[in-house]
Amino acid sequence: MPLEISLKGQVGLVTGAGTPYGIGRSLVIKLAQAGAEVVYACDLNTAHFDALEKDVKAIGSNCIVKGVLLDVSSEEQTVALLKKIVKTHGRFDFYFANAGFANYRNLNDLKGEHWDRAISVMTTSCFYAVKYGGQAMAVTSTVKPKSGGNIILTSSCAAFLGAYADIAYTAAKKAVNAIVEAGSVQLSTSNIRVNGFAPGFTRTSILTSSKKAEDGTEYKLKETAKEIQSNHEWFFERAGLRVKPEYYYNRLQEADEMADIGVFLASDLSVSINGQVILADSGFTAAATKEACTGPVPPITPLELK
Ligand SMILES: NC(=O)c1ccc[n+]([C@@H]2O[C@H](COP(=O)([O-])OP(=O)(O)OC[C@H]3O[C@@H](n4cnc5c(N)ncnc54)[C@H](O)[C@@H]3O)[C@@H](O)[C@H]2O)c1
Repeated sequence: MPLEISLKGQVGLVTGAGTPYGIGRSLVIKLAQAGAEVVYACDLNTAHFDALEKDVKAIGSNCIVKGVLLDVSSEEQTVALLKKIVKTHGRFDFYFANAGFANYRNLNDLKGEHWDRAISVMTTSCFYAVKYGGQAMAVTSTVKPKSGGNIILTSSCAAFLGAYADIAYTAAKKAVNAIVEAGSVQLSTSNIRVNGFAPGFTRTSILTSSKKAEDGTEYKLKETAKEIQSNHEWFFERAGLRVKPEYYYNRLQEADEMADIGVFLASDLSVSINGQVILADSGFTAAATKEACTGPVPPITPLELK
């Protein structure tokens, strides 16, 4: 039997799915490929929802994609959307709290308002995902006789090391890891798992969209996927990813790779994983000091077969 990943018939939402190139967008496409019935793609950037719906159809999927303007920091908007989804479909099965931004400010430039916004968009929204997403997953109906579901929060490599981002982003994402752990316990009698994945540096729209996204109002990103990908090059260079490609931890990560992990966490292939955050950085954090202590690492000598 071939290995199968199936979310057949499931209904859920992905936040931060409005960019032309990003983890949320990839998640929507892969959830559709995995058989999800309806995916609500939520964002402040509303320019690319139509293209996303078309792309899902183009892969031959019958999944219904609905683009929704949502500010994830709004409790009221979040609850209203969840009520609408459950009333419309009689079920709610997965919640990807993935929206975020990163604006790299040093301590002199970082103001209280930046701190507050980072926490409300990237941490408080995850609390809403666990609380209200959990409540929505507990609603039963003829199409869903039992409480259950999966909540997946997007953390960051910044939750594992102090030098990856500014202090507000780092704190916001570290708190996401805490919500995964405590949330999994709080929902452990509801047949709902809570997990997360923490991307390392990944080519997405984040460096292009963050300034606009931080404002908290609807916007339309004009740049194409290609422009957005090239906007990431200077950052990859700054992070040292452009040197020594023979080291696995220096590889460039793509949004699709992160989405694969997310879909795995939402599926039955990961039933025994709960309360965990998977660090998906190709080993960059494990190699934080690079060659400073080990010296150059030679490739392993192949086993002699004589
Ligand atoms: N790209 C990376 O290197 C990287 C590394 C670690 C973690 N992450 C995390 O991955 C997640 C997805 O980001 P991405 O890299 O795909 O970037 P992206 O810019 O493609 O997607 C993030 C989206 O979140 C949206 N957003 C921001 N604030 C919002 C709000 N208040 N309400 C609704 N939507 C909002 C933005 O408009 C944007 O479309 C983020 O949480 C980010 O912190 C990314």
